Amino acid sequence: TTIQWFPGHMAKAKREVQEKLKLIDVAFELLDARVPMSSRNPMIDDILGQKPRLILLNKADMADEAVTEQWIRYFRDQGRTAIAIDAQSGTGVRQIAAVAKEMVKEKFDKMRAKGIKNPRPVRALIVGIPNVGKSTLINRLAGRHIAKTGDKPGVTKAQQWIKVGKEMELLDTPGILWPKFEDEDVGFKLAVTGAIKDEILNLQDVAVYALRFLSVHYPERLSERYRLDNIPADIVALFDAIGRRRGCLTAGGGIDYDKVADIVLYDIRTEKLGRLSFETPAAWT
Ligand code: G4P
Repeated sequence: TTIQWFPGHMAKAKREVQEKLKLIDVAFELLDARVPMSSRNPMIDDILGQKPRLILLNKADMADEAVTEQWIRYFRDQGRTAIAIDAQSGTGVRQIAAVAKEMVKEKFDKMRAKGIKNPRPVRALIVGIPNVGKSTLINRLAGRHIAKTGDKPGVTKAQQWIKVGKEMELLDTPGILWPKFEDEDVGFKLAVTGAIKDEILNLQDVAVYALRFLSVHYPERLSERYRLDNIPADIVALFDAIGRRRGCLTAGGGIDYDKVADIVLYDIRTEKLGRLSFETPAAWT
């Protein structure tokens, strides 16, 4: 689903999330483990304010495990709690309620101190940019399929609480926030990981970005996948080499660069190049 994010839509999305915050104890900030910073809403600290927040690094099944560990440490060093999950298969999802409960322990202890014997379940909300896996996670936590509301801020339906075990309740509509468009790098990373639809950006540009990144950070994966003895430093030469290996030829016998771009992006998104992370904390510390 493509969303047009105009300033008015952003303001409305922010307002809607803040309305929902009034109903909950803890927010789950859903990020893409492969690009945690690029999949983050630029105003998230301002939007969530003091609300307890658990960072969920989703799609960890596709991310470089070592890098995900670095991210978890990075967030911990900032006093935040982050856990890696895979909403699609459910890996890591079971910890969420327990960690959330721990995060709001103080608030609930106070409720008990005031004489409330059986405090209500911990109430939570999932927030994140489109395609980060919000619906998948809601369904996973619910243990059933919950109809997805249109990916448009402003499309509302009656909100309902979904029971997650005995101790947690989740709002069935997530908070949908916009990504950080200002930065060209961010746009490319979101395109490479499939969060931004291909029609928006030029496919060849996205593949150039991806191949440059892989040449530096995962050269051995490229060598292996496309059976290249060495990775040409020149990007056109690299396109040519992959194109020749894959028989991406035009009628005139030249290299079909669109086809090469398609193959490379398909291979990245379907893990044919293995588990990849496109951001490391080093750049942010
Ligand atoms: P959203 O509500 O935040 O917009 O995201 P949604 O749940 O629709 O998920 C977007 C895509 O990401 C879906 O794939 C979904 O299956 C996939 N996804 C979500 N969580 C994970 C995860 O932890 N690991 C992996 N590998 N994929 C995940 P899709 O291609 O759009 O649809 P489909 O393949 O499920 O049909």
